[in-house]
Parts: sequence; C-alpha cells; structure tokens
Amino acid sequence: MIFPGGIVTEHFVDGGLAVLGAGKMGGILIEAFLKHGLVSPQQIFATVRQSSSERRTISSAQITPGSDNRAAAEKADVILICLKPLSVGPVLDEIREVLSPGKLVISIAASVPTAYFESRVGANVPIIRAMPNTPSMVGEGITAMSKGKYATPEHLQIARKLFDAVGKTVVVDEKHMDAITGLSGSGPAFLYIILEALAEGGVKMGLSRELATLLAAQTMLGAAKVVLETGHHPALLKDTVTTPAGCTIDGILELEEGKLRVTLIKAVVKASQRAKELMFTNSSA
Ligand SMILES: NC(=O)c1ccc[n+]([C@@H]2O[C@H](COP(=O)([O-])OP(=O)(O)OC[C@H]3O[C@@H](n4cnc5c(N)ncnc54)[C@H](OP(=O)(O)O)[C@@H]3O)[C@@H](O)[C@H]2O)c1
Repeated sequence: MIFPGGIVTEHFVDGGLAVLGAGKMGGILIEAFLKHGLVSPQQIFATVRQSSSERRTISSAQITPGSDNRAAAEKADVILICLKPLSVGPVLDEIREVLSPGKLVISIAASVPTAYFESRVGANVPIIRAMPNTPSMVGEGITAMSKGKYATPEHLQIARKLFDAVGKTVVVDEKHMDAITGLSGSGPAFLYIILEALAEGGVKMGLSRELATLLAAQTMLGAAKVVLETGHHPALLKDTVTTPAGCTIDGILELEEGKLRVTLIKAVVKASQRAKELMFTNSSA
C-alpha cells in the first residue's frame, strides 16, 4: 500500500494507534509513522485538549484530532502518550478502564517513570517509556527507551520499530532517562544556540547570514557524522583540525576562556535535574 510519503510497506500497527496529546512531538511522530507506512491515517486516533474550536489538522493526511482520550484508547492496540508530564495522571484516569494487558502504552512524557503508570493504571498493562527528540522531524532523531514491569522484549520491539522510523533508537536502563532527557531531549536547543552563534561569528566577519548559517549548519552536521561514522573520540578529531600555531588553536583558546566546555556540561546537568521535577511542576521539557 502507498502512503502520503510514497513509501511502500505493510502496516506495522494493525489494530490502531492512539496518540494522546498530539502537539509538537506527537505531531512529528504521526507524520513520520505515516510517511513510513507504519500506520494508515484511518488507524490513527489523535487527541488534544480542545479539538473542535480550532479544527486543526495534523499532517498531509489531514488528521483532525478529537478530545475523547477514552474513545481513542479504546479503539487502539498501541497508545502513545505525548502529553506534558502533569497531564499524564488525569488522562490515565480517563483511559484506565479501557486499558488491558493486551494493549501497549508507550509514553514520551519526560519525567514520568513506568512505575507511575503501573500504579496509576492498576492492571498489568505493558508500558514503554521513550525519550525522542525534535530532529525526528527529518528522520535524524534519537530515541532512548526502557520497558516497564509488564512489558516484554516483543513490546520493546514494537516500540523500537515505531521510533526507528524517526531516527536511531537505543534501549537503556530507566535510571538514565532523566540524563537522556537533559542531553538528547534538550540538546537540540543547545546546539541551535551554538549554531546560531557560529553563524553570527561569520556575519561579524562579513558573510551574509544565509551563507553563514549554511556553513555553520553543514559543519555541525558533518562533524557529528564523522564522530558517528568513524567512532573516533571527538578530542582526537579536534586535534586533526588544530595545526600548531594555526588559526583553530586561537579560536579554541577563546572557547576555553569563555568556559564553553564547562558551560555545556552544566547545561546538561541542570536540564537533567529539572527533568526529574517535571511531573510535579507546571512545565515541560
Ligand atoms: N518537544 C520536545 O522536544 C520533546 C522531546 C521529547 C519528549 N517530549 C515530551 O513530549 C511531551 C509533549 O511535549 P510537546 O513539546 O509536544 O508539548 P505540546 O506541543 O504542548 O503537546 C502537548 C499536547 O497535549 C495536549 N493535551 C493537553 N491536555 C490534554 C488532555 N487532557 N487530553 C488530550 N490532549 C491533551 C495539548 O493540547 P492543546 O494543544 O489543546 O493544549 C497539546 O497538543 C512532554 O511530556 C515532553 O516532555 C517533548
């Protein structure tokens, strides 16, 4: 069967996919699942808080989200929770009665442990906790995932297959999820700031903003690709650019004086610490 993205595959999720909280991240995931033919538009039951007032649609398949979480969860075999952490508890209360061990719940909500789902839902419902990131919108995301008490390796495989559609996937011990939230969940924002600042340097030296942004972005992409493809330590790769008494070492001196390295380490630490608190406070990742 051919889907909007033009990719030909069999449907992966046969019995329907509920996406509860189809906002930024939920919308990105829906687009990707459709593009890769993992589900058809008819199999997606998306919800937001208020649907009818705006009549908004998601994706080229024109999916109009509803607001009945229970109805959506009832129709689906896989329930993807893309809500902000504080909304998870109340929505679980709405859908609890239609959950069963035969359904799979996958949550991308930061901060909320699988044990919280298990105790709030009460039945032996399989739960997978996942942390994707926004580069998923171009198929270059990374999603870390871990399974709850009642999830089997087969459930993990289902989740992996879904998130493989938006980039790389890794399975981790759940104790690392907050650190991952602070690194790869928040990381795109940190990198956009670095990218923008590099481009500003080019603008300061007389390049057009368009050219400077292209140079900075492709340089960041290329450097990341070299790390992934060679497996070499970033410090060694840095040394290959840094010729004695050349220009790069002068730039590095500025970075060290500006404490870029320690600032980035602290940014990840702070973001990870904040990730632990989100399910108790009025904010999100
Ligand atoms: N954004 C990221 O980079 C990222 C990355 C990884 C994980 N996450 C996680 O993904 C989750 C969502 O983040 P987001 O950035 O996508 O936020 P978002 O754009 O605000 O999406 C949240 C969605 O939940 C909907 N919602 C709120 N209450 C609801 C309810 N009772 N029933 C149904 N839908 C409801 C909202 O609807 P309305 O629009 O009507 O309010 C909104 O569409 C968070 O837990 C976050 O930690 C985000």
